[in-house]
Amino acid sequence: MNTTRAACAPRELAGGLVLREACPGDLEQIGALLAARGAEEDALDHRLVVTDPEAGWAACAVVVDGDRVVSTATLLDEEVRVGDVRLPAGQVELVATDRAYEGRGLVRALIGWAHERSAARGHVIQVMIGIPYFYRLFGYE
Ligand SMILES: CC(C)(COP(=O)(O)OP(=O)(O)OC[C@H]1O[C@@H](n2cnc3c(N)ncnc32)[C@H](O)[C@@H]1OP(=O)(O)O)[C@@H](O)C(=O)NCCC(=O)NCCS
Repeated sequence: MNTTRAACAPRELAGGLVLREACPGDLEQIGALLAARGAEEDALDHRLVVTDPEAGWAACAVVVDGDRVVSTATLLDEEVRVGDVRLPAGQVELVATDRAYEGRGLVRALIGWAHERSAARGHVIQVMIGIPYFYRLFGYE
């Protein structure tokens, strides 16, 4: 199976919601969601990632309800150095769900997307700098 393609295929979630790769038309809504649920500068960070040719739109996924972006997450390419060994790593960042859509498993689904994409990109480790308790739910330690 082509794992990169599998990681970017749209998938249907409960309630008619769809998880898919983000696209340029989502930019304003993603920025507004990140700013509303996190910090204003998250919208700028997101814009810098998706407009960076080395990352691009494929680094970001959204859950949409029709045309409305209701949840998002972004997978960054990182490198962890252990002595002289360089390990390709993934890092999930810029995570947010619209308040009206919380508790429906949208971020759990997006983290699943991110981990699939991470494996397809050859990452051998995941790094996380988010809220410790929350991300332990997704296998981080
Ligand atoms: C935290 C947040 C991203 C959760 O999004 P969500 O789509 O409601 O999350 P999910 O429904 O997929 O929940 C995933 C898991 O997290 C747990 N969870 C969700 N919100 C939680 C909270 N505030 N405290 C503790 N656990 C929480 C859920 O119980 C669920 O666990 P389970 O699958 O084992 O039952 C969302 O509430 C949000 O955007 N908050 C503001 C921004 C923020 O905190 N971002 C993350 C910081 S890095």
